[in-house]
Amino acid sequence: MAQKPQCGLVFLSKQIFFVMNTPKRYLITSALPYANGPIHIGHLAGVYIPSDIYTRYLRLKGREVISICGSDEHGVPITIKARQEGVSPQAIVDKYHSIIKDSFERFGIAFDIYSRTSSKMHYETASQFFRKLYDDGVFVENTTQQYYDEEVKQFLADRYITGTCPHCSNPNAYGDQCEKCGTSLNATDLISPKSTLSGSAPVLKETKHWFLPLDKFQPFLEKWILEEHKDWKTNVFGQCKSWFDMGLQPRAVSRDLDWGVPVPVEGAEGKVLYVWFDAPIGYISATRELTPDWEKYWKDSETRMIHFIGKDNIVFHCIVFPAMLKAEGSYILPDNVPANEFLNLEGDKISTSRNWAVWLHEYLEEFPGKQDVLRYTLTANMPETKDNDFTWKDYQTRNNSELVAILGNFVNRAMVLTHKYFEGKVPNVDSISDFDREILNEIPKLKKSIEENLESFRFREALKELMNLARLGNKYLADTEPWKLIKTEPERVGTILNISLQITANLAILGEPFLPFTADRLCKMLNLTQTTWENVGESVLSAGHQLNQAELLFDKIEDETVEKQLAKLQATKAANESATKKANPQKEEITYEEFSKMDIRTGTVLEAEVVPKTQKLLKLKIDTGVDQRTVVSGIAEYFKPDEVVGRQVAILINLAPRKIRGIESHGMILMAEDADGKLRFVQPNESVANGSEIK
Ligand code: MF3
Ligand code: ZN
Repeated sequence: MAQKPQCGLVFLSKQIFFVMNTPKRYLITSALPYANGPIHIGHLAGVYIPSDIYTRYLRLKGREVISICGSDEHGVPITIKARQEGVSPQAIVDKYHSIIKDSFERFGIAFDIYSRTSSKMHYETASQFFRKLYDDGVFVENTTQQYYDEEVKQFLADRYITGTCPHCSNPNAYGDQCEKCGTSLNATDLISPKSTLSGSAPVLKETKHWFLPLDKFQPFLEKWILEEHKDWKTNVFGQCKSWFDMGLQPRAVSRDLDWGVPVPVEGAEGKVLYVWFDAPIGYISATRELTPDWEKYWKDSETRMIHFIGKDNIVFHCIVFPAMLKAEGSYILPDNVPANEFLNLEGDKISTSRNWAVWLHEYLEEFPGKQDVLRYTLTANMPETKDNDFTWKDYQTRNNSELVAILGNFVNRAMVLTHKYFEGKVPNVDSISDFDREILNEIPKLKKSIEENLESFRFREALKELMNLARLGNKYLADTEPWKLIKTEPERVGTILNISLQITANLAILGEPFLPFTADRLCKMLNLTQTTWENVGESVLSAGHQLNQAELLFDKIEDETVEKQLAKLQATKAANESATKKANPQKEEITYEEFSKMDIRTGTVLEAEVVPKTQKLLKLKIDTGVDQRTVVSGIAEYFKPDEVVGRQVAILINLAPRKIRGIESHGMILMAEDADGKLRFVQPNESVANGSEIK
């Protein structure tokens, strides 16, 4: 008797093991990007490339899989952007939805559907979902005091309120956060709050909202994650753990806003679902839009659901959304949430507002046909376990010394030699040497390693193994030197090239998830149709198979190209710096008597020349009305001599003379210096007599 339950247990755990390893189908979701700006390399490296590699891999394996994404079109930032640009929120999301969708398509991100949360289907799905939870009494209703702008008659979302930070006195803190000291705030913490809509002081007014009592779900979630999902990535697991340690709190799932899915209950006029409530439901709406058979993906325990996201989305995908799904009752929960950390750019945080990014739509224009180069670089640098950096230098090196020198070079040699010696037909295998065997034995090993790495979301490592296959090919050709044997041992050369071409074909199959465009070209060159993961092995191509012409897969990226990109970033940086530079503080107070000591007059520049052996100095002859005199002025960087001759200027004439580069200067031209140090003349707005006093 004592044995029995134990046996049952073993059996059960084996069954679980089985289910875990070969689910019937996969549902892959990728974070819905906000449709308030285009997407950049950070998005790609963090979310969409990993999800795409994973999906393509599963498809090649012949698994049943769908990949879901779409635009996240609600939320306050979209309404703010619309207001700034003087257009409707719908116009904003229409614009960015199509830019984003287009970028994904052109990068080969193979979603089965790219939908959007302003769709009718989504409104319906999100309303139904809320309504179910509402009817089941899941929500807690709560009336709170919230800031209201009486002029525009609107409750103010956090980002619509600014005021002084109680911690650091920054006068421009937002209702949810002070960006200067980083403290997260409540709008009511702000000193002298102001509405950004009207500029008026907002008043507190009562408003009712619905809260998801996450505290009640904590025991369930803790068990589910901390006990049953120890396999999750440490960054994800750790973040969940620290949320649990702090204790989950009820979260409002509605907002006073006029953009979003209306709260579908009576007495909720002017209220919409909070964007983080409706957006993840967008995954469900998109699936419904894709197939009438959507429920098997969402409600069958034999589906494995995986959410690809960035680290700022962890709490929503591991805690909030699972609590919603659990509360609803009929849905499955995610099996894994392989969140990535962030990608930086040239050592600096990527930022949409500071325009510090490599935008996909721009890259596509500037680097036509080079999608795979970027995909490769971003995968090789994927921020899997810690933040990582993208640099143009690294991009160039990865292209030139890896894609060109290793992968491209190997494939090209195998193809070209076959055309040269065997009229482009896959030669026969004569006899396999021990060395050949050693090389061939590596193929299944590398395949297995790529599989294991991909199945556990180690994309960088998987890519390395793929490149190791190309390295192996190169080494094989270098060691066997077929070009030296062709005269004496043509059969041996046939064997060598056969093996090299098999490696090439394997590269095409194994490389497809990572470099889909390259794999496609390779298949065309190899005249290979319909390959699957299971074809990987020593004889993908049969002897006598006719190859197509070889073309170069990659070409060298020159210094000039990356320097141009760096210059573009430099310009962004400069523009940001001058935009944020604050005026210098006021100097010490002076009396009118002190001021009136200065004799400032209008004068006209009569002559100008650069002071020899200098770059900054102009020697000017000026008619001051009082006399004609020489003044040396440090403006040569900004003005050529002939640009200043004839110009009327303001000049301080009673400044003690000073020798500059051997020239006596009698006075000083007044200039305005802007934030980046550039000088401009201070001039009367119409011509006045020289010698007029400025006071
Ligand atoms: N729009 C969010 C972001 O870019 C992600 C939303 S993911 C979803 O951070 F699950 F809510 F859809
Ligand atoms: Zn502060």
